[in-house]
This record gives sequence, C-alpha cells and structure tokens, in this order.
Amino acid sequence: MCGIVGALGNKNIVNEVLYGLKTLEYRGYDSAGIAIYGKKLTIFKNKGRVKDLEKKLLNKKINNKFAFAHTRWATHGEPSKKNAHPHNVGAVTIVHNGIIENYQEIKNKYEFSKFYTSDTDSEVIAHLINFYFKKTTNFLDAFILALKELKGSYAIAAFCNKEPDKVLVSSFNAPLILAKNNVNIYFSSDISALLKFSNQFTYLKNKDIGILNLNSFILMNNKKRILKRDTFLTNLSAEDTSLGNYEHYMLKEIFEQPLSVDNTIKSLIDKNKILSSAFGEDSIKIFNNINHISLIGCGTSYHAGLVSKFWFQEYSNLTCEVNVASEFTLNKKIKNTLFIAISQSGETADTLSAIRNIKKSNLGNTLSIINRESSTLQRLTDLSFHTKAGVEIGVASTKAFTTQLISLYALAICIGKTKKLINISSEKKLVKTILDIPKKIKKILANTNKISTLTKHLNGYSAVIYIARSILYPIALEGSLKMKEISYLFAHSYPSGELKHGPLALISKGFPVVCLIANNGLKNKILSNLKEVESRGANVIIFTNDKEVFNQNKKNSFFIDVKDSNLNPLLFNIPLQLFAYYYAKSIGTDIDKPRNLAKSVTVE
Ligand code: AGP
Repeated sequence: MCGIVGALGNKNIVNEVLYGLKTLEYRGYDSAGIAIYGKKLTIFKNKGRVKDLEKKLLNKKINNKFAFAHTRWATHGEPSKKNAHPHNVGAVTIVHNGIIENYQEIKNKYEFSKFYTSDTDSEVIAHLINFYFKKTTNFLDAFILALKELKGSYAIAAFCNKEPDKVLVSSFNAPLILAKNNVNIYFSSDISALLKFSNQFTYLKNKDIGILNLNSFILMNNKKRILKRDTFLTNLSAEDTSLGNYEHYMLKEIFEQPLSVDNTIKSLIDKNKILSSAFGEDSIKIFNNINHISLIGCGTSYHAGLVSKFWFQEYSNLTCEVNVASEFTLNKKIKNTLFIAISQSGETADTLSAIRNIKKSNLGNTLSIINRESSTLQRLTDLSFHTKAGVEIGVASTKAFTTQLISLYALAICIGKTKKLINISSEKKLVKTILDIPKKIKKILANTNKISTLTKHLNGYSAVIYIARSILYPIALEGSLKMKEISYLFAHSYPSGELKHGPLALISKGFPVVCLIANNGLKNKILSNLKEVESRGANVIIFTNDKEVFNQNKKNSFFIDVKDSNLNPLLFNIPLQLFAYYYAKSIGTDIDKPRNLAKSVTVE
C-alpha cells in the first residue's frame, strides 16, 4: 500500500507534492513524510495525516528544486514518526511502496542492524543503495545493484545528495507513473495525484528504471539500455476528485451512482445491443470457446463476483466458481475456463498475483473488470472492460461496485448471445431493463430520510446480523461489509436458511437483524426465517421489493422499486450503502478513511 508522489522543477514543487499526497491518502494515512531539496536536503515526517505534515511546512515552501513524499499504511512497524518515510541513510534518501520480503536477510548479510533506525522493511533499501554508492561512487550503478537484490514488491524513489541533479525511480509489481508539463516533472503511485498538473502519463513496467531531472525523464533497463514506453492520455480531471458540496466522498459517490451506471451502460450498449467489442477485440473468439468461468476478486469486488455467478449460470449456461483472490489455487484445471478478475483499482496485489499465476501456468484466457484505465490488471489480461464509475475516493467502495455489477450482468448476457442462447428479441428486452436502472437508483436516492431513520434500530447494540437468500445473499455480505468498514460495528451475514443451524443462538431481545426480502419464489421461505428471529425478540429492519411485506412492516422497512429478480442486487445494494453511511455518521467515525484500512491494497 502507501502512496508516493514527487516533483522536480522550479515552480510550486512543495505545494504540488503536498496536494498530490493528500489525494493519495486513500492508499494509507497513518503517517506521512516529505524530502525537500533546495540548497540542501530537509526531511519532515510525522505520525498522522498529511494535513499535520502540511502545518510543519508552513513558510518552508520556496525555492526548492524537488520534493518527494510518502503517505503510509503500516505493514512492518507501527505507525510512528520513526517508521514514516522518507528514510535517509548516509547520502541516500528513499520512499517506498510495497514489501521487501528479504529485508531481514539483506540486513543480516551486510550487517545493517547496528545502523537501523526504524522497524520497517523499507529502510533496508536506503542502506543497500548507500552501501553500493560507497563502493561505486555512482548513484545509478548503486541503485541498479541494490534493486537486483530486492525480493518482493516495490515502487521506489531515491535521491543521493552527492548527485543532486536527479531522482531515480523504479517499480516491481507496484504502480508508478511519470508525467510532465511545461514546468515540472512528476512521479506518483497513481494518476489521481497528478490530474491537476497533467493529463498524459507514462507507466513504468516491472523493473524499469527512471532517471528524472529538472526538465525531463528517461527510462532504461538494468543494463542501461534506453526504453520507449507508451504514454496514455486520460480525460479524467482534478474536478473528478473534488468533494463538491458533500460532507463525505462516500455520500458523494453513492449519489453519483445514476450517472456512473449510465456512463457504464453507454460503453456497453448501442442500439439495444450489448457490444461484445466493449470487452476487447478478441472477445467473440474467446467467448465462443469457454465452458467454465472462474471469478476472482477481494472484498467488495469478490461480492460482485458472487452476485454475477447467478447471471453466468442463467444467461451463459456456464458452470461458475467465485474465488477470494488471496485463496485462489491452481489445483483445479477445467478446460476452456475464462478467468475474470474484478478490481476497482486494478492494482490489488492478491488479485494481480492470482492472474499472474494463471498466466504463468497458461491456464486459460483472462478478462478484467476494472475502474482504472491502464491499471496493471488491465494491462495483464487478454480482455478488459473499464467501468465508468469515475474516480472513487471513499475507502468504502460504492459506485465502483454498482458499475461492476452492471458490467458483469451485461457480460453474462453477451456470452449467452455469442453462444446463441439469447436471441435478438430477448436481448432487446434485457437491454431495456438495464436502461431503466439509473432512473430506479435515482428514486431510491430521493428517499434517504427513511433509511437514516432506520439506523436508530442499531443504537445501543454492538453487533448486527444481515440475512438474505440466493442472489441477495452476496448483497447482504456487501451491506454488512460496508457497515463493518465505516462504523466498526460487528456486522455479519448469513443465508437466512442457515440461522437455525447455529447463528440463531445469537438472537436475544432487541438484537438487530437486517433482512432482505425479495418478491419472488423464495419470499415465503425467508418470511419463515424472519418469524424465527422475531419470535426470539429480534429487532428487524427490512429492505424489500414486496409491497405486501412493506405495507405490513411500514415502520421498520424500506421499499425498493424493482420487479426483475435478476436485477434485485443492483437496487437492494443502494439503501444498504446508505444504511451503513447514516449509521456511521450518527456515531461520528471517519467515514472516508476508516481506521486500519486503505483504498488500494497493494500488499499480499
Ligand atoms: C470495499 O469497500 C473495500 N474497501 C475493499 O473490500 C475492496 O473492495 C477490496 O480491497 C478490493 O479492491 P479492488 O476492487 O480495488 O481490487
């Protein structure tokens, strides 16, 4: 995890780096630091947020040639000033995102322990470069020699005060991008930090080395051969990352869902047809050959996979499995499997690792559903669809999830169509229901007061259970994940039929149970499960699209206007996001940056 950002040039360097660092706080926010070079190198760091670092820098921002900064999500060593980056050893100063798996080995081999000042794995990089610099007296050579010894993942920026005309950067299995404008040169873990300064970016490939100076940058490999890398242009802008009039990014992003879904639909559908080309050039050839689908993702993206399993079974008539990326193993080889990786960021280490293993073993074709164009996952997979959620900043994923769902729904239909299971008129009907979704989301968003009132049922309790059945069970999982993440309330989900097999023992008078009731063939079964908890005193909160259930429970229920069972997940999901949001707000947690978490999880 962690975010790094830096700039070289002559204008506004420190202000721009601090601005960029704030936008990277989604990657970690337990401590922050900055190295600034004007006539000499100065390092500032602290435990806590970038805004605290900023205070330290007041009046110290002029006449600087470069600055690089880091916002940390602790892995090795507690959040503290001593563990915050940059790390300085002798002539060398570094910032690092990733994990150096063999840091202990290197520490022992070169006897760095005596001089170690932090508990981090990262500090070893500064020691190693400094060690080689003393031997070679050449910064680039020292950097290359040090990189060769590192195992794990890294995005590194390094400075040597004996060669202050340059900053060296490199990355391996961690994102790093370069950009420039007429005045400055930039690098960052993510384009969002730099959208204010440029719209043209160059991604480093694994092990590329960048040499950056005040006016330009070049890329080379570790044999010093100059490399050419494509630049890509984005149409995202800094406004896409602004909070506007909202109190929290999460709320803003929940309310952006009609637009995000609409934009996603526009790139999936044309003239009542789902475009197979939206998933990539070879999609038809690949879709024709698949017999099995294996979905891979983490957290919310994993939940999107769980929902879509129902769609792949129904519309594509394929067997389908869903894997938590960190648990993915290669032991089951099913011929003609399409591996679908779902990831908002496209940079999640667990998901990337699963896809890399699949590719290494040549197990089958890969497709990614990502919300970040040119992310590592997109570049790794054979086919890809870029959801148009727009930049998502709140750590709790909302609009990205909804656009993942709509994309997977369209993909299931598209594969079914390619396999001639869905004819033109059925496709047209399915497309019509998709086109209606933004309107229906808007309707839910117009009725937020009721949802806010329902959160009162949670007051005074330290846990809540969510229950649902079938395709709504993953939505219960997602709803309870949102609740846990932002309110720290212990929230757990069960398929409602499972209650009697154990969890029912948890229910006592007043215990809150959130119940998702769909108006379909399963209605009576889940109503029986509802009775089981009610008769044991549970305090029930109902989300339903069944008018009768709603009318009988008006006080403690919320009505969702959706008729097509297959689309239930898309709409049931929205009030659950708001339910978690309003509860977290009522107890005053840090909603956009909940404790211990980070938006982009780039460590395994
Ligand atoms: C969602 O609210 C989470 N913060 C988290 O579960 C997230 O979905 C997960 O880390 C996967 O991220 P990705 O979609 O970027 O791969």
